[in-house]
Amino acid sequence: MLINPVPADQLTADRAAIEVDGLHKRFGSTQALDGMTFSVRYGQVTGFVGPNGAGKSTTMRVILGLDSADQGTALIEGQPYWSLRHPLTHVGSLLDASSLQPSRTARNHLLWLAHSQGLGSRRVDEVVEQAGLESVIRRPAGGFSLGMRQRLGIAAALLGDPPILMLDEPFNGMDPEGIVWMRGFLRSLGGQGRAVFVSSHLMSELEDTADHLVVIGRGKVIADTSVKDLIAAASGDRVELRTSALAEAMKVLADAGAKVTATAPDVLLVTGLSAERTVAALSANHVTFAEVTTHRATLEEAYMELTRDAVEFRAARAAQAAGGTAR
Ligand SMILES: Nc1ncnc2c1ncn2[C@@H]1O[C@H](COP(=O)(O)OP(=O)(O)OP(=O)(O)O)[C@@H](O)[C@H]1O
Ligand SMILES: [Mg+2]
Repeated sequence: MLINPVPADQLTADRAAIEVDGLHKRFGSTQALDGMTFSVRYGQVTGFVGPNGAGKSTTMRVILGLDSADQGTALIEGQPYWSLRHPLTHVGSLLDASSLQPSRTARNHLLWLAHSQGLGSRRVDEVVEQAGLESVIRRPAGGFSLGMRQRLGIAAALLGDPPILMLDEPFNGMDPEGIVWMRGFLRSLGGQGRAVFVSSHLMSELEDTADHLVVIGRGKVIADTSVKDLIAAASGDRVELRTSALAEAMKVLADAGAKVTATAPDVLLVTGLSAERTVAALSANHVTFAEVTTHRATLEEAYMELTRDAVEFRAARAAQAAGGTAR
């Protein structure tokens, strides 16, 4: 069963569900957040991606008022979390799947949460079904695997039927079947008009799931972009061509302005010329070919491209450090 769709008046595309502006947060000598600024919109899954220690969890904790920022603001539907009257009906969150009372059954865990928000047991049954927990719901939650705990955390986040969901690394500990389920589930929540904000340190987890990405590193935003634009930029005009007339094809395409590299005895990688223009050039010169494929970068490749400078910076520093100790 699907969750009640979000009321139409909440689906204003222009309205930010979450708005984070200039967050700074220091822990001792660590600058965890260093001017973090972005917003999360309704009707899409926004991936929040960055390496370990980039500041994802800290940002989420600040948004939920669990940590205070030294500077900057974090608003949910235009208000600070503390001022929301029934917070779970505005934002459902999963930050740490292991924060539950181990001897309590999963059902009682949800009932306790539901009652604290003035919700009844019927709502508990609905979220249990949505999270696919029916068969284990009467077992003590302490015996749950991490993947099952994640599902229980998702069920808890959905209790208040909130228009905004914020999940910190929900793919952690999930088996391949669980990951496929989670991807579909997050997409369906976004499709219902909800704002789904989900963190991960692995870009590949968000493949075919996120519509938008906020990529962060060292406490600030590196990129804030739609997945479509990011992949298009990383894919470039790259076309793979299979042909037995390798030399002829290379000449024709080079004359048409492409950069051509042979990657196998019958395969060419063509850059700087669209698939359409590649086919047109070959056909006009009667060069036979068997297959033309447009190269589409994976999300992981796009991410590597995007963070290459940061990675090179890290690698250079590491090399410097290694050189320093060798002397
Ligand atoms: N309570 C704390 N005390 C001290 N340092 C902290 C605390 N919480 C976070 N940090 C530091 O702040 C930085 C950001 O941490 P944070 O947990 O937000 O990163 P993250 O992006 O969630 O990383 P991960 O992918 O490992 O979950 C790290 O350097 C971390 O060590
Ligand atoms: Mg984290």
